Amino acid sequence: MTTPSPSGHKHWSNRLAFIIATTGAAVGLGNIWRFPYITGQNGGGAFVVVYVICVLLVGIPLVLAEMAIGHSAQKNPLDALRTLAKKHNASEHWRWVGLLGLITLTVILSFYSVIGGFSLYYLFKALSGTFNHASASTVALVWQQLVTHPWQMLFWHSLFMLMTMGVISAGVINGLERATKIMMPALYIILFVLVACAAKIGDFHRAFLYLFHPNWHLINAHIVISALGHAFFTLALGAGALLTYASYSKPNSTLLGSVIPVVILDVLVAFLSGLAIFPLVFAFHLPVTSGPGLMYQALPIAFAHIHGGQWLGVLFFLLLLFAAWTSSINLAEPIIATLSQRAYASRRSSAWLIGFVAWALGIASLLSFNILAHVQWHHHTVFDLISSTSTDYLLPLGGLGFAVFAGWVMSPATLKASICKSSVVFYSWLWLTRIVAPLAILLILL
Ligand code: PFF
Repeated sequence: MTTPSPSGHKHWSNRLAFIIATTGAAVGLGNIWRFPYITGQNGGGAFVVVYVICVLLVGIPLVLAEMAIGHSAQKNPLDALRTLAKKHNASEHWRWVGLLGLITLTVILSFYSVIGGFSLYYLFKALSGTFNHASASTVALVWQQLVTHPWQMLFWHSLFMLMTMGVISAGVINGLERATKIMMPALYIILFVLVACAAKIGDFHRAFLYLFHPNWHLINAHIVISALGHAFFTLALGAGALLTYASYSKPNSTLLGSVIPVVILDVLVAFLSGLAIFPLVFAFHLPVTSGPGLMYQALPIAFAHIHGGQWLGVLFFLLLLFAAWTSSINLAEPIIATLSQRAYASRRSSAWLIGFVAWALGIASLLSFNILAHVQWHHHTVFDLISSTSTDYLLPLGGLGFAVFAGWVMSPATLKASICKSSVVFYSWLWLTRIVAPLAILLILL
């Protein structure tokens, strides 16, 4: 995947490798697990419309802004902001934006690994044939058995974290990227198959209307904040993860052509997964507001009802695990790159250190499904609070920092060399990044 340049800095071998790795980072639990349940909690179509607007007006410009910083600095988030600030005679305090990103990534990684652990457990269940001919209530029971047993959750959470850090510390990201080339297309195919199954046994018409026929009067401040946060989460935006991957792209390449396919592929996975899950939710009377368990309670019903469902289930959870794995690696990479490039610790020790911190923090999320379920603030569990604070507030705040830095501190000439050759497109981007996106984030957050 990456080859070291004369200066020792690594680069993706070509543009396709960069697109694949970035798609791997963007497509993950956010699309398949989080999108449907957040949509269900926020009134369906109304949320989906605001989410798409956020992706187009704020998401795409800011992905380019964050990536342009990494691309022109060719450094980790902390050093990229520091070096570029110095070069443009701006305050060194900009590096705090990089630091905020690294903290956000650690927090997200902590609960991401808990949910990633769920997919390991479900893969294991699908392999052992638990869902064969199971009724909707048996499927619900499998979920209950997982979340009421903290030790079991801890086991899968630990295994997932070990898998992430194992890949990073062994430096076998190469092999993983090669596998992504096969796994990603396979994920799309299996999602199409699942949508077809759901259409056959579920209430597809109602699901389609639910997702794409918005009830405008439902739109309120809370939905808009959740939609903005989710746009950031799904695009891996606002914490320096994209910055880091863009710093591995060759200095003479431009970013726009790589970013557009990634965004399209990302939104497509979310829609497909909504169209696979909601027909089952309606046909089998699952509450749309089930929360984090929605996908895990809905899809196995399809596996139970169709011919060859066991293998479809195994394949699905395998691909889900893979998508989660490539995203969790992307969550950890910027922190590890920073620690090791600044020579605080080797790559290997940084990986185990960060893995341990995020693992320990994840225990709070994990316990909020059982022992700490009663600890709530305005009906939100510890997991809800950790997940929504980092996603709905910290990511947009980081994104705001990157937008202002790229738009107002960096010189247009430097940015244009990173983003695209066309002046019309570039200046449209520049004004979206300077004015529209920051104002939108500020308005929504305030
Ligand atoms: N985009 C990933 C997903 O949708 O699952 C999650 C993610 C990765 C969020 C990297 C943030 C990040 F920096």
